[in-house]
Amino acid sequence: MSTHEMNVYVAPLQGFTEAPFRHCHASVYGAADRYYTPFLRIEHGEPRHRDMRDVTSQLNDNHDVVPQIIFRDIDEFDLLIGALKEAGCRRVDLNMGCPFPPQVNKGRGAGVLRNKALLEKVAERIDAERDMTFSVKMRPGISAYDEWRDIVDIINAMRLEHVTVHPRVAALRYGGSVDMDAFAAMFSQLQHRVVYNGDIMSRDDAARIADSFPGLDGIMIGRGVLACPSLIAEMREGRDWSSEERVDHLLQLHAGIFQHYSTTLCGDAQVLSKIKPFWEYLEWEIGHKTAKMIKKATSIEKYEKAVASIG
Ligand SMILES: Cc1cc2nc3c(=O)[nH]c(=O)nc-3n(C[C@H](O)[C@H](O)[C@H](O)COP(=O)(O)O)c2cc1C
Repeated sequence: MSTHEMNVYVAPLQGFTEAPFRHCHASVYGAADRYYTPFLRIEHGEPRHRDMRDVTSQLNDNHDVVPQIIFRDIDEFDLLIGALKEAGCRRVDLNMGCPFPPQVNKGRGAGVLRNKALLEKVAERIDAERDMTFSVKMRPGISAYDEWRDIVDIINAMRLEHVTVHPRVAALRYGGSVDMDAFAAMFSQLQHRVVYNGDIMSRDDAARIADSFPGLDGIMIGRGVLACPSLIAEMREGRDWSSEERVDHLLQLHAGIFQHYSTTLCGDAQVLSKIKPFWEYLEWEIGHKTAKMIKKATSIEKYEKAVASIG
C-alpha cells in the first residue's frame, strides 16, 4: 500500500495532543484521518474534569477525535465509559501501553497486559456495549517481548475495530529501539486490523512500514508529528516540503496554539509552561540558538521575540 492511501492517525501524547493542538493542526495542515486524545483518567473517584472538557471541546469540530481511557479495574473502566457515553462518544481507545511506573505498578496502562481477569471482564463489557466501538493500543509486554502471547486469545476474542501496536516493551518507555520482529509476530497472530506505531519520523519510515506489512490498517504517528507537523500532509502529497513551507506552517500552528492558551490560561508562567515543550521537538528545524531562547524565555514578551526570530 502506498503511504498516500493508508490511514494515518495522530497518537495520543499527554501534554501535547489536546484539543488546541488537534484543532490548529487540522486547520493548518488538513486533518489527519484521526486524532487520539491523551488518556482520560479517574481522579478522586470520577473521570477527571479537564479530560472530559478536552473530549467535549468545541475545538473538536474540525477533526475526527477518539478519546482514550486508562483504567486499572472494571470500576474505573465503567466510570470512564459511562461518562464518555453520556458525552455522546461512540468510539473509545483502551490504553494498554502506558509505561510509567506510577501507572503500571497500579495495574494501569501496560499493567493491564498482565491482568487476564480484567481483560476477560473488559471483553464482556465491550460485547454488551453494542452501540460503541472499541480499539486497543498496546505494547508487546512490560519487560519481555513475548508477554502478549499470554493474552492474544482474549484480545482476539474482543469486539475491536483495530489494535494499535507500539513494539517496545514498557521497560524501555520511549527509548531504545522498536522491535520489528515482535511487531511482525503480533501482526501475524492478531486477528484484528492492526495499526503500527513507533518511531515514524519521515516519509521514508512510513513507506518502509507500509511496504513491509501489506494489509496494515494504518500507522499512528506521535513524536514525528510534533517534530515535523507537516509530515502527514507531506505523505499525502508524496513530496518533502521545503524548509520555508515547513517553517511558515509551523509558525501558523504555534501562533494558533499560543493564541488559545493565552486567552484561556492565567499569567505568563502558565502559558509558557504549556507551549514551550512543543518547541523542544522542533530544534532541528528552528536551530539550537532559537530553541534555547524559547526555552529560557521567562515572559511572553521574550517568548514572542524568540519566535519572531524564526524564519
Ligand atoms: C510525551 C508523551 C506522552 C504520551 N502520552 C500517551 C497517552 O496519553 N496515551 C498513549 O497511549 N500513549 C502515549 N504516549 C505514547 C505515544 O502515543 C506513542 O505510542 C509513542 O510515543 C511511540 O510513537 P512515536 O514514536 O510515533 O511517538 C505518549 C508519548 C509521549 C512521548
